[in-house]
Amino acid sequence: PQSLRALGAAINLPIGSALTPDDITKWGSISGGQFSVVTGANAMKWQTVEPNTQGTYDWTDADQLVAFARANHQLVRGHTLLWHNQLPTWLTDGVAAGTITKTQLWSLLEKHIFTELGRYKGKIWQWDVANEFFTDADPSGIDPNNWWVANAGADIIPQAFKWAHQADPNALLFYNDYNITGEDGTNAKSDAVFAWVRQQRDAGVPIHGVGTQAHLDTQYGFDPQRFQSDLERYASIGLKIAITEADVRTFVDGPDTQVPTDSLAQFAQPFEYAAMLSAAVSVPQVISFTVWGWTDSDSWVPSTFSGEGYACIYDVNQQPKQAYYSLQKVL
Ligand code: XIL
Repeated sequence: PQSLRALGAAINLPIGSALTPDDITKWGSISGGQFSVVTGANAMKWQTVEPNTQGTYDWTDADQLVAFARANHQLVRGHTLLWHNQLPTWLTDGVAAGTITKTQLWSLLEKHIFTELGRYKGKIWQWDVANEFFTDADPSGIDPNNWWVANAGADIIPQAFKWAHQADPNALLFYNDYNITGEDGTNAKSDAVFAWVRQQRDAGVPIHGVGTQAHLDTQYGFDPQRFQSDLERYASIGLKIAITEADVRTFVDGPDTQVPTDSLAQFAQPFEYAAMLSAAVSVPQVISFTVWGWTDSDSWVPSTFSGEGYACIYDVNQQPKQAYYSLQKVL
């Protein structure tokens, strides 16, 4: 059977994964062989690239990712420029102490965007410019308590898109978020994000697409039809769409150390992966389908959601699971 990337190529849909450094150094043949687009799981986040001191950069992981992609003829999704998580401590401490003013915060973000996009200019296909500005608790609009909104003002969001567009005019710029395609059984957040992105587009902000993270779990009551109709709604106003972080958490006792045997992992998980990919395939404006890590060995899930795990398409022995075969079948 053919690789996911070969099957995707035949229908012009790049299939991707987030990669950690281990995915590159330990399991590079699968990371390179199965996927045609890659995202740094952490490599390009602000905390990673300018970790300890303002002005002192560490491009080790980001350079490694870009070089790996080049060697394997893969596209790159840049992730992410404007997010409230994984910011350097010098930045959050400085803002909290008042030694970084609002004006300085704006120039620091401008510098961050021009520095990072400048370094990789022409090598990044899509950038997740802004990430997670809506909450589940109050999805009616941009979260006023978001770190960026509270400290820099909501105008920083369109400004980030404008800077990114200036810095790398050929990169496709995305607004990325979770639970915006009905993953959790509601559509309130999707409605709000749709309205906001449309308004930004109408105001001339260079937003080219919406990234739906698509983190599912097998208890949410995922509705494949709503997933597809939400994709179609974004497409209907001329936006491109990327599935950016697909995974399907199952409920487990203990860490991801075994090959899953429970029935949700056996049935619901492959079903949900396949349903997301089928929807993506049937909406032409979807330009890539990315899983958030391909192996249970280094999934972000067990350390983030207690009692949940085995969310990926390969097991801890780097063997394909039913979820993998279900994707292959859709392609
Ligand atoms: C996660 C990484 O996978 C982890 O390694 C890290 O500890 C935390 O962040 N939504 C996103 C991603 O947009 O950046 C997050 O990645 C997962 C949730």
